[in-house]
Order: sequence, then C-alpha cells, then structure tokens
Amino acid sequence: MDFTDNRSAAGRYDAEKARIKAYIESHLKERRLRHTYSVVEEAKKLAERYGGDMEKAELAALFHDMFRGRPETELDRQVKWFGLPEHLIGRPNLSHSKIAAIAMEREYNIDDADIVNAVSFHTTGRAGMSKLEKIIFLADAIEPLRQYPAVQEIRTLAYVDLDQACIRSLERTITYIREQGEYLDPDTQNALNDLKEKLDL
Ligand SMILES: [Fe+2]
Ligand SMILES: [Fe+2]
Repeated sequence: MDFTDNRSAAGRYDAEKARIKAYIESHLKERRLRHTYSVVEEAKKLAERYGGDMEKAELAALFHDMFRGRPETELDRQVKWFGLPEHLIGRPNLSHSKIAAIAMEREYNIDDADIVNAVSFHTTGRAGMSKLEKIIFLADAIEPLRQYPAVQEIRTLAYVDLDQACIRSLERTITYIREQGEYLDPDTQNALNDLKEKLDL
C-alpha cells in the first residue's frame, strides 16, 4: 500500500466530508440543506451512470452551496478581499460558487483542481467542462426537489446523454436569464457554444 497517497483509497475524503457536513448543517437553512443532500444523491447517481468518481462527486455536491444564502454584503466583501472579478459584485447567485471554491482550497485543503472547478463553475458551466463539472452542474439542475418547466425533460435526458442534457440545461438557463433581463455570465454562453461545437451541432 502506498501510504504517501492517502487520497487513493475509497473513503479518502471522509474527514473533509465530516467537516463540511458539520458546517452546512449549522449554517444552511432547512430548504437549502435538503437541496444540498438531494444534489449529493443525484451527483452520485450520475457519477455511477457515467463512470465518474462518486467520492469526488459527493464532496463537490456537499460544498457547492455552502455560501448560498449568505448576505449579499458579506459575499461582496469576500469578492473584494480575494480580488475576484468585478462582475461578481452584487450577484450572490454567481459569487457563492467562486467563494466556496476558494474556501475548499484554503480552509479545507482540497487540492484536487477538478473538484474545486466543479464547485466554482456549478452555476455557470464553462467551455471545456470535465465529466465531474458536468455531473455537478446537472445534479444541481435536476435533483428531485427542483421544479421548473422543462426539468422533467432534462432529468430524463441526463441519464441518456450527459452532454445533450448539459446543452438543454444551458439553453434553458440562457433563455430564462434573457427573459428576466438578468446578467448572463459569458461562461454560460461559452459552455453552450463549446459543447455544441464538440458535438458538431
Ligand atoms: Fe449554487
Ligand atoms: Fe445548488
């Protein structure tokens, strides 16, 4: 056994999982906590379906919304403190992902870039998403507690074709954002363009 790599065994993130669970259980509101555990289950199912790493999927899902629901002023302060892009100011729906990714690295010593990116881009997606990033992005969008038009279609598609489901979900997000007159993060459009290009659509 290689004792230098304690990440190689199953259950390798048990300590981090215990810590983040303690955090979210004492900080998240009931509804957000139920959503988070629902994302965990969905992400594990998707990882199993597509031969992804279930341990990493579970960990990313546990962290993904750790700061969702924090006051906007607090998130804005963090954006400035960490020198994150200006467009995150006043947009807690975007900044909570970026700040969670930083916390994973700095406070929980999670150095696996794929897990950190899955949290960082769970709201927007981006060009060149990894399998884990797609799994977290979709699990967040389709977990059983989610309700919006087209969710059922995306849910079904998610277990048929991961990329097509991401495309459908991104398209729906872009339409929704435009309808609401909200800010569309370029990463979302880039994610869609990139997937379509790869699939030659
Ligand atoms: Fe989120
Ligand atoms: Fe979420």
